[in-house]
Amino acid sequence: MQRSPRAEKYPDLDEIYSQCSGPGALRTAEFVADKIGLREGMRVLDVGIYRGIQTCFLAKEYGCLMVAVDPWLDDFDPAGDGRPFVDHLRRNAERWGVADRVLGLRLGLPKIRFADMSFDAAYSSTAFEMIRGLHGDDEYLASLREVFRVLRPGGVFGLAEPMHRGGPPPVDLEPLVSEGPLPFKKCLATPEQTAEQLREAGFEVLEAGHAPDAKEWWEEFATHDDECRRNPEGNPRMLAVDAGRWISFGYVVGRRPA
Ligand SMILES: C[S@@+](CC[C@H](N)C(=O)[O-])C[C@H]1O[C@@H](n2cnc3c(N)ncnc32)[C@H](O)[C@@H]1O
Repeated sequence: MQRSPRAEKYPDLDEIYSQCSGPGALRTAEFVADKIGLREGMRVLDVGIYRGIQTCFLAKEYGCLMVAVDPWLDDFDPAGDGRPFVDHLRRNAERWGVADRVLGLRLGLPKIRFADMSFDAAYSSTAFEMIRGLHGDDEYLASLREVFRVLRPGGVFGLAEPMHRGGPPPVDLEPLVSEGPLPFKKCLATPEQTAEQLREAGFEVLEAGHAPDAKEWWEEFATHDDECRRNPEGNPRMLAVDAGRWISFGYVVGRRPA
C-alpha cells in the first residue's frame, strides 16, 4: 500500500470508519487532495460527506476552508443512531478542532445554488456514483456541470468513486452487483467513461485512473465499516467473490479552463 503520511496519523480504523462511508477513508481523501493540490486557505467544496470526517481531515491537514453539501438522505445512514447528520458533522468538527473552518449544508447536487465561481477547488469521494445509481446519467452530468459552474476558472475538481474495470461483471459476480435498492451495477462506470462525462461538462481532464490501492482500500472497508461487520453476506461477500476482478475505485481530476 502507498504511504499516506497524513492519514496514518489517525490509525484507529474502527473509529475512522464509524464516521466514514467509503473505501480508503482518510487515505482516499489524502490521495485526492494531493492530486488536486489542496493548500492552506483554499475554499473547497466537498460534495457528499456523510458524517464529514474526510471534510474535517482536509480542513485540519491541509488548512482549507471547507463548505460541505449533502442532502443527508433519510434512507442512507449505514451507522444510523437517529441523530441528524449535521450533529455528527458538528461533533467531528469540534473533535478535530476545525469548527471554524467547516460549514455543512443540507443541499444535494445538481442544485446547490452557490454563486458562480465561489470555490478554488472541489472534492468528492464515494458520492457521485450514488447520483448515477439513483438518478441516472443525465443527473450525473447536470451535477458535474453544477460543480463546474461554482468553481473559479483554473479551479480543480478531484472526483473519486467506486468504479469498475470495464466490460460486464463476471458471471459469478453478476447477481451480487445487481441486488439491493442501489445495485453496484447501476452505480459504477470506468474511469474513462467518467472522464468523458467530465469533458462533456466542460472540464479539461488532467488525469483519470484506478487508484493503485483500490483493492486494499476495499479490503480495509470490508474489515472496518460498521455495516460490513453487521452484514458479512452483503458488501464483504460481494468483494470476496470479485477478488479485484471487476470492482475498483477510480478517480478523475478535472480543471475548469482558465
Ligand atoms: C457513501 S457516502 C460517502 C461520504 C463521505 N465522502 C465519506 O467517505 O464518508 C455518500 C454520501 O453522498 C451523499 N449524496 C447522495 N446523493 C447526493 C447528491 N445528489 N448530492 C450530494 N451528496 C449526495 C449521501 O447522502 C451520502 O452521505
